[in-house]
Amino acid sequence: MVLSIRSLRDQSPYLPLGDKHDAPFYGKDILSVRQFDRDNLAYIFAIADEMQEMVRRVGTFDLLKGKILANLFYEPSTRTSSSFTSAMERLGGSVIPINEVRYSSVSKGESLPDTIRTLECYADVIVLRHPETGSAALAAKYARKPIINAGDGTGEHPTQALLDLYTIAAELGHLDGLTVTMLGDLKYGRTVHSLARLLSLFGAKLNYVSPDLLRMPVEVMEEVAGKGILQAEYNTLDEVLPETDVLYVTRVQKERFTDPEAYEAVKGSYVIDSAIMEAAKQDMIVMHPLPRVGEISMDFDDDPRAAYFRQMEYGLYVRMALLAMVLGKA
Ligand code: NCD
Repeated sequence: MVLSIRSLRDQSPYLPLGDKHDAPFYGKDILSVRQFDRDNLAYIFAIADEMQEMVRRVGTFDLLKGKILANLFYEPSTRTSSSFTSAMERLGGSVIPINEVRYSSVSKGESLPDTIRTLECYADVIVLRHPETGSAALAAKYARKPIINAGDGTGEHPTQALLDLYTIAAELGHLDGLTVTMLGDLKYGRTVHSLARLLSLFGAKLNYVSPDLLRMPVEVMEEVAGKGILQAEYNTLDEVLPETDVLYVTRVQKERFTDPEAYEAVKGSYVIDSAIMEAAKQDMIVMHPLPRVGEISMDFDDDPRAAYFRQMEYGLYVRMALLAMVLGKA
Protein backbone atom coordinates (compact mmCIF):
# COMPACT_ATOMS: atom_id res chain seq x y z
CA MET A 1 0.00 0.00 0.00
CA VAL A 2 1.29 3.45 -0.88
CA LEU A 3 0.95 5.97 1.86
CA SER A 4 0.10 9.40 0.57
CA ILE A 5 1.23 12.36 2.59
CA ARG A 6 -0.55 15.50 1.52
CA SER A 7 1.88 18.41 1.38
CA LEU A 8 1.24 21.47 3.55
CA ARG A 9 0.90 23.51 0.40
CA ASP A 10 -2.05 21.43 -0.81
CA GLN A 11 -4.08 21.91 2.31
CA SER A 12 -7.12 24.12 2.22
CA PRO A 13 -7.01 27.50 3.96
CA TYR A 14 -6.75 27.22 7.72
CA LEU A 15 -10.31 26.71 9.02
CA PRO A 16 -10.24 24.29 11.94
CA LEU A 17 -13.30 22.14 12.54
CA GLY A 18 -15.31 23.10 15.61
CA ASP A 19 -14.64 26.83 15.35
CA LYS A 20 -17.56 29.20 14.87
CA HIS A 21 -16.60 30.55 11.48
CA ASP A 22 -19.35 33.16 11.49
CA ALA A 23 -18.35 34.58 14.92
CA PRO A 24 -17.49 38.31 14.83
CA PHE A 25 -13.73 38.80 14.54
CA TYR A 26 -13.13 35.10 13.84
CA GLY A 27 -9.72 34.80 12.19
CA LYS A 28 -9.37 38.61 12.13
CA ASP A 29 -6.34 40.67 13.13
CA ILE A 30 -6.72 43.25 15.88
CA LEU A 31 -4.46 46.06 14.66
CA SER A 32 -6.19 49.36 15.37
CA VAL A 33 -9.16 50.70 17.30
CA ARG A 34 -10.47 51.95 13.96
CA GLN A 35 -11.83 48.41 13.54
CA PHE A 36 -14.43 48.96 16.26
CA ASP A 37 -17.85 50.57 16.34
CA ARG A 38 -20.34 50.88 19.18
CA ASP A 39 -22.03 47.59 18.28
CA ASN A 40 -18.97 45.40 18.24
CA LEU A 41 -17.63 47.12 21.37
CA ALA A 42 -20.85 46.22 23.17
CA TYR A 43 -20.41 42.64 21.97
CA ILE A 44 -16.78 42.43 23.18
CA PHE A 45 -17.75 43.89 26.56
CA ALA A 46 -20.63 41.43 26.94
CA ILE A 47 -18.19 38.56 26.36
CA ALA A 48 -15.72 40.17 28.79
CA ASP A 49 -18.51 40.28 31.41
CA GLU A 50 -19.04 36.56 30.89
CA MET A 51 -15.32 35.90 31.20
CA GLN A 52 -15.24 37.82 34.47
CA GLU A 53 -18.16 35.75 35.76
CA MET A 54 -16.48 32.48 34.72
CA VAL A 55 -13.13 33.41 36.26
CA ARG A 56 -14.89 34.27 39.52
CA ARG A 57 -16.90 31.04 39.47
CA VAL A 58 -14.44 28.45 38.17
CA GLY A 59 -11.09 30.19 37.59
CA THR A 60 -10.00 28.23 34.53
CA PHE A 61 -12.10 26.51 31.86
CA ASP A 62 -11.60 24.73 28.56
CA LEU A 63 -12.97 27.08 25.88
CA LEU A 64 -9.61 27.31 24.07
CA LYS A 65 -8.27 23.87 24.96
CA GLY A 66 -5.77 22.80 22.34
CA LYS A 67 -5.21 26.35 21.02
CA ILE A 68 -1.77 27.93 21.17
CA LEU A 69 -0.84 31.60 21.46
CA ALA A 70 2.60 32.96 20.53
CA ASN A 71 3.43 35.97 22.69
CA LEU A 72 6.10 37.84 20.71
CA PHE A 73 7.48 40.87 22.54
CA TYR A 74 10.29 43.00 21.08
CA GLU A 75 9.79 45.58 23.86
CA PRO A 76 9.53 45.18 27.64
CA SER A 77 6.15 44.34 29.11
CA THR A 78 4.75 43.11 32.40
CA ARG A 79 0.97 43.59 32.21
CA THR A 80 0.24 43.08 28.52
CA SER A 81 2.40 40.00 28.21
CA SER A 82 1.35 38.32 31.44
CA SER A 83 -2.33 39.16 31.02
CA PHE A 84 -2.37 37.57 27.56
CA THR A 85 -0.62 34.52 29.04
CA SER A 86 -3.08 34.38 31.90
CA ALA A 87 -6.03 34.93 29.52
CA MET A 88 -4.93 32.04 27.29
CA GLU A 89 -4.25 29.71 30.20
CA ARG A 90 -7.50 30.52 32.00
CA LEU A 91 -9.24 29.52 28.77
CA GLY A 92 -7.39 26.20 28.76
CA GLY A 93 -4.99 27.09 25.94
CA SER A 94 -1.22 27.30 26.02
CA VAL A 95 1.43 29.89 25.25
CA ILE A 96 4.76 30.08 23.45
CA PRO A 97 6.43 32.97 25.30
CA ILE A 98 9.03 35.00 23.41
CA ASN A 99 9.40 37.81 25.88
CA GLU A 100 13.02 38.41 25.22
CA VAL A 101 13.70 38.41 21.50
CA ARG A 102 17.41 38.67 22.31
CA TYR A 103 17.35 34.93 22.89
CA SER A 104 15.47 34.16 19.66
CA SER A 105 16.63 34.21 16.04
CA VAL A 106 15.73 37.91 15.93
CA SER A 107 19.20 38.48 17.41
CA LYS A 108 20.63 36.65 14.39
CA GLY A 109 19.00 39.26 12.16
CA GLU A 110 15.79 37.44 11.27
CA SER A 111 13.17 39.76 9.74
CA LEU A 112 9.76 40.31 11.33
CA PRO A 113 7.92 38.60 8.41
CA ASP A 114 10.11 35.50 8.75
CA THR A 115 9.68 35.35 12.53
CA ILE A 116 5.93 35.64 12.04
CA ARG A 117 5.92 32.93 9.33
CA THR A 118 7.78 30.71 11.77
CA LEU A 119 5.54 31.22 14.77
CA GLU A 120 2.34 30.75 12.83
CA CYS A 121 3.45 27.21 12.02
CA TYR A 122 3.25 26.47 15.72
CA ALA A 123 0.55 28.79 17.06
CA ASP A 124 -3.07 29.72 16.29
CA VAL A 125 -2.75 33.41 17.15
CA ILE A 126 0.20 35.79 17.58
CA VAL A 127 0.32 38.71 20.02
CA LEU A 128 2.99 41.18 18.89
CA ARG A 129 4.64 44.15 20.58
CA HIS A 130 7.25 45.93 18.50
CA PRO A 131 9.04 49.31 18.64
CA GLU A 132 8.06 50.38 15.10
CA THR A 133 4.75 52.00 14.21
CA GLY A 134 3.01 49.89 11.58
CA SER A 135 4.83 46.68 12.54
CA ALA A 136 1.62 44.86 13.50
CA ALA A 137 0.09 45.72 10.13
CA LEU A 138 3.27 44.51 8.42
CA ALA A 139 3.14 41.24 10.36
CA ALA A 140 -0.53 40.81 9.46
CA LYS A 141 0.33 41.19 5.78
CA TYR A 142 2.48 38.09 5.95
CA ALA A 143 0.51 36.03 8.45
CA ARG A 144 -2.34 33.59 7.80
CA LYS A 145 -3.14 33.47 11.51
CA PRO A 146 -4.58 36.41 13.48
CA ILE A 147 -2.15 39.06 14.71
CA ILE A 148 -3.07 41.04 17.81
CA ASN A 149 -1.26 44.37 18.13
CA ALA A 150 0.07 44.69 21.68
CA GLY A 151 1.66 48.08 20.96
CA ASP A 152 3.45 49.20 17.78
CA GLY A 153 5.91 51.93 18.68
CA THR A 154 4.16 55.24 19.17
CA GLY A 155 1.28 54.07 16.97
CA GLU A 156 -1.52 52.20 18.72
CA HIS A 157 -2.26 49.89 21.61
CA PRO A 158 -5.77 48.73 20.73
CA THR A 159 -6.21 46.04 23.41
CA GLN A 160 -5.19 48.55 26.09
CA ALA A 161 -7.77 51.04 24.79
CA LEU A 162 -10.44 48.33 24.86
CA LEU A 163 -9.64 47.50 28.46
CA ASP A 164 -9.51 51.21 29.29
CA LEU A 165 -12.98 51.71 27.84
CA TYR A 166 -14.27 48.60 29.62
CA THR A 167 -12.83 49.99 32.87
CA ILE A 168 -14.63 53.32 32.38
CA ALA A 169 -17.93 51.56 31.64
CA ALA A 170 -17.54 49.25 34.64
CA GLU A 171 -16.50 52.00 37.05
CA LEU A 172 -18.77 54.86 35.98
CA GLY A 173 -21.69 52.83 34.64
CA HIS A 174 -21.81 54.49 31.21
CA LEU A 175 -19.62 55.82 28.41
CA ASP A 176 -21.58 58.65 26.83
CA GLY A 177 -20.77 62.32 27.18
CA LEU A 178 -17.88 62.01 29.64
CA THR A 179 -15.16 64.59 30.15
CA VAL A 180 -11.88 62.73 29.87
CA THR A 181 -8.59 64.47 30.67
CA MET A 182 -5.42 62.86 29.33
CA LEU A 183 -2.27 63.93 31.12
CA GLY A 184 1.45 63.53 30.44
CA ASP A 185 3.16 62.22 27.34
CA LEU A 186 0.48 62.49 24.69
CA LYS A 187 3.00 62.58 21.84
CA TYR A 188 4.72 59.24 22.30
CA GLY A 189 2.10 57.46 24.43
CA ARG A 190 0.36 54.97 22.16
CA THR A 191 -2.33 54.19 24.72
CA VAL A 192 -3.79 57.69 24.50
CA HIS A 193 -3.68 57.64 20.69
CA SER A 194 -5.92 54.58 20.72
CA LEU A 195 -8.13 55.69 23.61
CA ALA A 196 -8.86 59.15 22.15
CA ARG A 197 -10.02 57.49 18.91
CA LEU A 198 -12.26 55.04 20.77
CA LEU A 199 -13.78 57.72 23.00
CA SER A 200 -14.67 59.70 19.88
CA LEU A 201 -17.44 57.13 19.33
CA PHE A 202 -19.11 58.19 22.58
CA GLY A 203 -19.41 61.96 22.37
CA ALA A 204 -16.70 62.54 24.96
CA LYS A 205 -15.11 65.92 25.68
CA LEU A 206 -11.36 65.44 25.58
CA ASN A 207 -8.86 67.62 27.45
CA TYR A 208 -5.18 67.12 26.66
CA VAL A 209 -2.77 68.33 29.35
CA SER A 210 0.92 68.07 28.46
CA PRO A 211 4.16 70.01 28.14
CA ASP A 212 4.40 71.69 24.71
CA LEU A 213 6.97 69.12 23.63
CA LEU A 214 4.60 66.22 24.27
CA ARG A 215 1.32 67.39 22.73
CA MET A 216 -1.23 65.02 21.18
CA PRO A 217 -0.27 64.41 17.51
CA VAL A 218 -2.19 66.51 14.99
CA GLU A 219 -3.28 63.43 13.00
CA VAL A 220 -5.00 61.93 16.06
CA MET A 221 -6.68 65.27 16.88
CA GLU A 222 -7.89 65.67 13.31
CA GLU A 223 -9.33 62.17 13.24
CA VAL A 224 -11.13 62.75 16.56
CA ALA A 225 -12.36 66.18 15.41
CA GLY A 226 -13.85 64.45 12.35
CA LYS A 227 -16.25 62.69 14.74
CA GLY A 228 -17.48 66.05 16.06
CA ILE A 229 -15.65 65.77 19.39
CA LEU A 230 -14.65 68.79 21.48
CA GLN A 231 -10.92 68.80 22.24
CA ALA A 232 -8.84 71.35 24.14
CA GLU A 233 -5.14 71.53 24.98
CA TYR A 234 -3.60 72.79 28.24
CA ASN A 235 -0.22 72.96 29.94
CA THR A 236 -1.62 72.70 33.45
CA LEU A 237 -4.25 70.53 35.06
CA ASP A 238 -5.90 72.92 37.54
CA GLU A 239 -8.34 74.49 35.07
CA VAL A 240 -9.83 71.19 33.92
CA LEU A 241 -9.52 68.91 36.95
CA PRO A 242 -12.81 69.96 38.60
CA GLU A 243 -14.89 69.03 35.50
CA THR A 244 -13.04 65.77 34.81
CA ASP A 245 -14.86 62.39 34.96
CA VAL A 246 -11.80 60.34 33.97
CA LEU A 247 -8.23 61.49 34.57
CA TYR A 248 -5.99 59.31 32.39
CA VAL A 249 -2.39 59.71 33.53
CA THR A 250 0.55 58.53 31.42
CA ARG A 251 4.28 57.97 31.83
CA VAL A 252 6.76 60.10 29.89
CA GLN A 253 8.04 57.52 27.36
CA LYS A 254 11.76 57.82 28.03
CA GLU A 255 12.65 55.12 25.48
CA ARG A 256 11.22 57.21 22.60
CA PHE A 257 13.44 60.28 23.20
CA THR A 258 16.48 60.73 21.00
CA ASP A 259 17.80 63.55 23.20
CA PRO A 260 18.26 62.57 26.89
CA GLU A 261 18.27 66.26 27.88
CA ALA A 262 14.82 66.73 26.38
CA TYR A 263 13.59 63.84 28.53
CA GLU A 264 15.16 65.33 31.65
CA ALA A 265 13.43 68.64 30.89
CA VAL A 266 9.92 67.16 30.79
CA LYS A 267 10.04 64.17 33.13
CA GLY A 268 8.19 64.80 36.35
CA SER A 269 6.13 67.58 34.75
CA TYR A 270 3.02 66.39 36.60
CA VAL A 271 2.58 64.46 39.81
CA ILE A 272 -0.91 63.50 40.98
CA ASP A 273 -1.26 63.26 44.75
CA SER A 274 -4.01 63.39 47.33
CA ALA A 275 -3.67 67.15 47.83
CA ILE A 276 -4.13 67.89 44.10
CA MET A 277 -7.05 65.49 43.92
CA GLU A 278 -9.01 67.53 46.48
CA ALA A 279 -10.06 69.74 43.57
CA ALA A 280 -11.57 66.79 41.66
CA LYS A 281 -15.09 65.36 41.90
CA GLN A 282 -15.82 62.46 44.21
CA ASP A 283 -17.48 60.38 41.49
CA MET A 284 -14.60 60.45 39.02
CA ILE A 285 -11.78 57.96 38.45
CA VAL A 286 -8.03 58.14 37.93
CA MET A 287 -6.59 55.68 35.41
CA HIS A 288 -3.06 54.84 34.24
CA PRO A 289 -1.97 52.12 31.78
CA LEU A 290 1.05 51.56 34.04
CA PRO A 291 3.95 51.31 34.68
CA ARG A 292 4.03 54.57 36.63
CA VAL A 293 7.36 56.20 37.29
CA GLY A 294 6.32 58.91 39.72
CA GLU A 295 3.31 60.48 37.94
CA ILE A 296 0.92 59.27 40.62
CA SER A 297 2.03 59.45 44.21
CA MET A 298 1.50 56.27 46.25
CA ASP A 299 -0.35 58.36 48.82
CA PHE A 300 -3.32 58.38 46.42
CA ASP A 301 -3.49 54.59 45.98
CA ASP A 302 -6.03 54.02 48.76
CA ASP A 303 -8.43 56.65 47.43
CA PRO A 304 -11.54 54.93 45.97
CA ARG A 305 -11.09 57.04 42.84
CA ALA A 306 -7.74 55.34 42.12
CA ALA A 307 -8.88 52.84 39.46
CA TYR A 308 -5.48 51.92 38.00
CA PHE A 309 -5.07 48.61 39.82
CA ARG A 310 -8.64 47.53 39.05
CA GLN A 311 -7.97 48.55 35.42
CA MET A 312 -5.30 45.82 35.17
CA GLU A 313 -7.77 43.15 36.26
CA TYR A 314 -10.40 44.29 33.75
CA GLY A 315 -7.66 43.79 31.14
CA LEU A 316 -7.63 40.06 31.78
CA TYR A 317 -11.34 39.70 30.96
CA VAL A 318 -11.12 41.85 27.83
CA ARG A 319 -8.12 39.88 26.54
CA MET A 320 -9.90 36.59 27.26
CA ALA A 321 -12.85 37.89 25.23
CA LEU A 322 -10.61 38.91 22.31
CA LEU A 323 -8.79 35.57 22.20
CA ALA A 324 -12.06 33.64 22.29
CA MET A 325 -13.43 35.81 19.49
CA VAL A 326 -10.48 35.68 17.08
CA LEU A 327 -10.22 31.92 17.66
CA GLY A 328 -13.89 31.42 16.82
CA LYS A 329 -15.14 30.34 20.23
CA ALA A 330 -17.30 33.33 21.17
C1 NCD B 1 1.83 50.97 28.09
C2 NCD B 1 2.53 50.71 26.79
O1 NCD B 1 3.30 49.74 26.66
O2 NCD B 1 2.28 51.47 25.87
N1 NCD B 1 1.95 49.91 29.01
C3 NCD B 1 1.01 48.91 28.99
O3 NCD B 1 0.88 48.18 28.02
N2 NCD B 1 0.18 48.82 30.05
C4 NCD B 1 2.18 52.29 28.69
C5 NCD B 1 3.62 52.59 29.01
O4 NCD B 1 4.52 51.79 28.79
O5 NCD B 1 3.84 53.69 29.53
